[in-house]
Amino acid sequence: MNPETILYQLTETSEFMMSSVIVTKENNCIVIDGGNPEDMPLLKEYIGKRHISMWILTHAHSDHISGFIDEYRKNGLADFDIERVVYNFPPYEKWSKLEHTPCHEFFVMDIHETLPDFLSIREGLGERAYEVKQGERLAVDECTIDFLYTWHEGLYENPMNDSSLVFKITTPNKSVLFLGDLGPAGGDVLFEESRHLLKSDIVQMAHHGHMNVGLEVYATILPEACIWCAPMWLYNEPELPPYLANPEKRKKNHRTRMFGTALTRKWMALLGVRTHYVTGEGTQTILL
Ligand SMILES: [Fe+2]
Repeated sequence: MNPETILYQLTETSEFMMSSVIVTKENNCIVIDGGNPEDMPLLKEYIGKRHISMWILTHAHSDHISGFIDEYRKNGLADFDIERVVYNFPPYEKWSKLEHTPCHEFFVMDIHETLPDFLSIREGLGERAYEVKQGERLAVDECTIDFLYTWHEGLYENPMNDSSLVFKITTPNKSVLFLGDLGPAGGDVLFEESRHLLKSDIVQMAHHGHMNVGLEVYATILPEACIWCAPMWLYNEPELPPYLANPEKRKKNHRTRMFGTALTRKWMALLGVRTHYVTGEGTQTILL
């Protein structure tokens, strides 16, 4: 038995990614995403020979799950002892036939970035693959995992990020809310449907801290600590980063409510958060 539940938020080996390992008191793992193929050696170091009771895939973007897909293609995930792969991705067959979504070119590109790659290995995962539903509660040892949000029909402007799973992991001592890469529109739906469930001790900042959910979501979570899956250039970027500097372009791309990391950091300061775990500074070890 381990004396504590430990969350390792892994540092980037690739430029940009999200990867978490939770080690339970019974020495089993919950893995979240894993990052890019370059991030796999560090992930394996932290998992060691432990059993992975649950591997949660937040959404089908390469900076989150391309490492997982690559390991499957290399050797069928032979380096990992996985019991269950938990995910819920949007219906590719249906969405790929949609013709009139806003920012349609981006929509088409986004749903083709990684989702078809996952679907190509889905069958091979067999009974280990588990499509979780919103509202479902799962458990691994002392960790309870409540799934508060999955993809919604109609959120097409930022389709894959707004399809992120949102879930709260609760131990006897702490709760940590994972927001994946949820954007402003997904945040609105989450707030509308589940605001009464959001309060948590720790939050993983949505979408690496920028272009993410609104202040009201964070104000409702009211965390004491934030996890930033962000390299330092992103954590320290200017108030108006170059990719958001053109207001016409933001309007055209339906991104008027998307802001840089600097503003999110101001929000968290307003909420009185003093503890920040930033992966750009190295792998973060957090007791749960
Ligand atoms: Fe991401």
